[in-house]
Amino acid sequence: MLARTIAAIPASAISSIFDQATALREGGRDLVDFSIGEPDFDTPAHICEAGAQAIADGITRYTSTDGTAALKDAIARKFLRDNGLKFSRAEIVVGAGAKPLLATAVQAVINPGEEAILTSPAWTSHLGMLQLAGARPVLLETNLEGNFKLTASALEAAITPATRLLILCSPSNPTGAVYSAEQLQALAEVLRRHPQVLVISDDLYEHIVFDGREFATLAAVAPDLSKRVLTVNGVSKAYAMTGWRIGFGGGPKWWTDGIRLIFSQNNGGPCSISQIAATAALDGPREFLADWRDIYRRRRDLAVAGINNIDGLRARAPEGAFYIMPDCGGLIGKCRPDGQIIESSTDLAAWFLDAGVVVVPGAGFSCDPYFRLSIALSEAEIKRGLQRMAAACDILK
Ligand SMILES: Cc1ncc(COP(=O)(O)O)c(C=O)c1O
Repeated sequence: MLARTIAAIPASAISSIFDQATALREGGRDLVDFSIGEPDFDTPAHICEAGAQAIADGITRYTSTDGTAALKDAIARKFLRDNGLKFSRAEIVVGAGAKPLLATAVQAVINPGEEAILTSPAWTSHLGMLQLAGARPVLLETNLEGNFKLTASALEAAITPATRLLILCSPSNPTGAVYSAEQLQALAEVLRRHPQVLVISDDLYEHIVFDGREFATLAAVAPDLSKRVLTVNGVSKAYAMTGWRIGFGGGPKWWTDGIRLIFSQNNGGPCSISQIAATAALDGPREFLADWRDIYRRRRDLAVAGINNIDGLRARAPEGAFYIMPDCGGLIGKCRPDGQIIESSTDLAAWFLDAGVVVVPGAGFSCDPYFRLSIALSEAEIKRGLQRMAAACDILK
């Protein structure tokens, strides 16, 4: 029998829609897949070459548990150059992707029953890793009208003596919300009054911000809080390196020491070859990041316009990341030609799947009636998917 902690946690809605879509595709169905949360670009050649060279050079052995000194130095340079954050090697940890790093960071600080605040719509795994660590997640609802942002007053009202952690994700998966320096300052004002609250800033989508926005991160905006902020980033989304599995964090040594301790028992160091490739990514040319961002922006504009042309759907242009979170409240209660009623975004996602389009229902992000589309696919695919969605919605009564 599985442990009680595991039994209480539902399987990820993202994985379940992904599995359904994979089964259909294997059966020969043509699907437009808006569920995938990874760049459709190839890892740039200079990064792949560094990885290949690492193999040729025989760099295929264990590394130190929390990353090589060379990669940590490249990460320190990245934090200083891009974010104005200064970290020593001991204040940096590298994991096999940001996901295990985030989970370990949570595990390192949460005592059973302590509260952890996150915004909803929430990334499935932020919620899942809190539950697995024995935290009590406190979901603060945000909405389309408020640009899916957490306000200082909502944060203040949610903090109790049991609050241990706040997870901030900007640009956000799944909503695309991007917090400006001023908005982070307002949250920092609240956090100053509650010294027991630690913060994880998940900055994975740092380089994907639109319309001239400046990316900002809490530890840089409020340096006085930096001794209780862990800033997490990685190469997956920025450099199209999802399969290489390198994520990293910078924060106070007491926290990185805790993560190191857990890594030493549970994980071991990340892949030696990927660490060389990630070093090449962080230290190498970065002009292509702006080109990719412009491509995502064009896709965003195309997708948002298309969604807003469909009766019953409403979308706001996300400020960053590569996801759109349409409100589908206008379709709830509608009837399919086979008589089934659309009662939730899960029903709508099932209906879209019948029409050959994969989206992730709001249940995957603790919110309804919304669903998530990833725009990490070509404009032609986006157009094809929108046509199918429009046709599917058209025949609902
Ligand atoms: C907000 C956010 N953080 C972290 C991750 C995990 O990234 P990695 O591929 O480095 O594990 C993801 C991946 O989807 C994400 O969306």
